Amino acid sequence: MTGTMDPVAQAVAATVARYRKDPYYILQMLREIQEACDWISPEAIDLLQQALRLPRTKIEGVAGFYAFLYTRPRGRYRVLFSDNITDRMLGNMELLDYMCGQLWVERGKTSEDALVSIDTASCTGMCDQGPALLVNNYAITRMTRERVDEICELIRNKVALADWPREYFRVEDQVRRKDVLLGSGLAPGDALAAALARGAEGLLCELKASNLRGRGGAGFATGLKWEACRNAQGKARYVVCNADEGEPGTFKDRVLLASHADMVFEGMTLCALVIGAGKGMLYLRGEYRYLLDHLNAVLERRRRRNLLGAGILGWSGFDFDIEIHLGAGAYVCGEESALIESLEGKRGTPRNRPPFPVTHGYLDQPTVVNNVETFAASSLIAHRGGAWYAGIGTSASAGTKILSVSGDCARPGLYEYPYGVSVSEVLDACGAGDVQAVQVSGPSGVCLAAAEFGRRIAFEDIPTAGAFMVFDHSRDMFEVARNFVHFFAHESCGFCTPCRVGTSLLRNLMDKLKNGHGSPYDFAEIEKLNRILQSMSHCGLGHSACNPVLDTIAKFRPAYERRLQQKEFEPAFDLDWALEPARQMTGRDDAGAHFTTGSGEGA
Ligand SMILES: Cc1cc2nc3c(=O)[nH]c(=O)nc-3n(C[C@H](O)[C@H](O)[C@H](O)COP(=O)(O)O)c2cc1C
Ligand code: SF4
Repeated sequence: MTGTMDPVAQAVAATVARYRKDPYYILQMLREIQEACDWISPEAIDLLQQALRLPRTKIEGVAGFYAFLYTRPRGRYRVLFSDNITDRMLGNMELLDYMCGQLWVERGKTSEDALVSIDTASCTGMCDQGPALLVNNYAITRMTRERVDEICELIRNKVALADWPREYFRVEDQVRRKDVLLGSGLAPGDALAAALARGAEGLLCELKASNLRGRGGAGFATGLKWEACRNAQGKARYVVCNADEGEPGTFKDRVLLASHADMVFEGMTLCALVIGAGKGMLYLRGEYRYLLDHLNAVLERRRRRNLLGAGILGWSGFDFDIEIHLGAGAYVCGEESALIESLEGKRGTPRNRPPFPVTHGYLDQPTVVNNVETFAASSLIAHRGGAWYAGIGTSASAGTKILSVSGDCARPGLYEYPYGVSVSEVLDACGAGDVQAVQVSGPSGVCLAAAEFGRRIAFEDIPTAGAFMVFDHSRDMFEVARNFVHFFAHESCGFCTPCRVGTSLLRNLMDKLKNGHGSPYDFAEIEKLNRILQSMSHCGLGHSACNPVLDTIAKFRPAYERRLQQKEFEPAFDLDWALEPARQMTGRDDAGAHFTTGSGEGA
């Protein structure tokens, strides 16, 4: 029967059957339809709407939200160059232009023969081995001109992605310094066995005694979070692992999932034991699509060993399993409530908080959301005990932190240190000389100048989700901040006006400064925007969008002043520049075709 169906109908039927027509899986269905058909056509949406009995607008609303879902035809090969500042430093834009030239396609467009489209994506989490790109969501690292030539040849010859050389898709771990977590050697089941011997109450006590705090950025006490969820009223409880890892410059979760997935899944299972959950979900960022088969294989192995499923390790009534949901290119989905919306198959718009997920999370039920590294550390604590863990690091920051080091250094990669390590110690270890600045915790974090390199990575000094980007003196810190501001404007989900408009205005302001139209008044404008974004944004993205600009103005002001050629204020909207297309169309470039203040005339 399916043999005679057209490919779109076949893809829709297959995915709808796989997800048992459950509307909470729309995002997964759309993603799979696109993998089979290259884009999500109106026909596919029609068929999906009929099968799920949902309003068309609902499906279109979801498809339209995610950067990696296409509702217009795209090339059979969809190339996205990672566009973090570290990729820029490694020449990603030159390679992108070169590839566009080789394949006769304009950036952001699809070739006339519908073979290829080329564009950029926000950081793909490969900063230690960039410049990187995605082809149909599969990562290729360490791009060079030679590699671009080879890829162009494969595309021109229409070679299926599955037949491309395997070494292209090799992503290295690059673990440079191990400590108790990366070097634990914990075998699958060790932590669970220790936890079952103590019981759920005992495990919770160990976790609280460990002083473990969340590794995803906010640093909430993990034991208290699990306890609040355990005590919350609900029909069911859920465990969610946040593997969205969208903060530019962060890639430690990628390595944990690639090489320590058992520790992560075991941590989720321990959480299930404490809170009484039957189901867990790992939300994997779309950029890590290449990890999906590996993670599913680890889950399967754990089921076979009775580390998942019914009656885990013979413990009657301890039934728990985990499934993986793939994201589709939306940084805001790392925010825990947006992530839950996305897990429910909706647009990833952050919810109002409170209530918090621990009481009203997935399907409005009590839910624990933790970062990948937090779950891995929980396994270690279950095995070695809370007091042991609390003895590592500082009194306010227990344990170790994995740093994702990239940028201007000889040895980029992962560095695990006990909390309290100084910035300069990390710089020495990674072989960074002549350092001008370090951006800790990504664009939403903090930019440190040389005078601050004695400061410490710890909740009480510099808290971080893990990114550690190094910039030497050849780098223009204004351009670094401008890249980050473009990132925020691109990733704003548009739900609230202060962030939607504010991040765009900030981007325009920085572009205006770059183009030599800035004046000292622009600093006041930036301060004003910051006040609005801080006080009126709905989520953390808006709150932190001005951070990189404020930090770099305070610490690297000459990089801005160099650009201040105007004494008078000019609005960020350049009317004369906006008239350029009209001039080109009419072939005019005389004085009357230009806008000058006072004349009000234009083409
Ligand atoms: C815009 C935004 C993006 C975020 N992205 C992530 C992310 O990629 N991974 C993550 O673990 N937490 C991220 N967070 C923090 C989560 O909302 C949440 O605090 C975290 O997953 C809780 O886990 P933890 O307690 O283990 O840190 C983000 C927050 C915001 C505001
Ligand atoms: S602050 Fe920005 S990202 Fe957050 S909800 Fe508002 S528009 Fe969306």
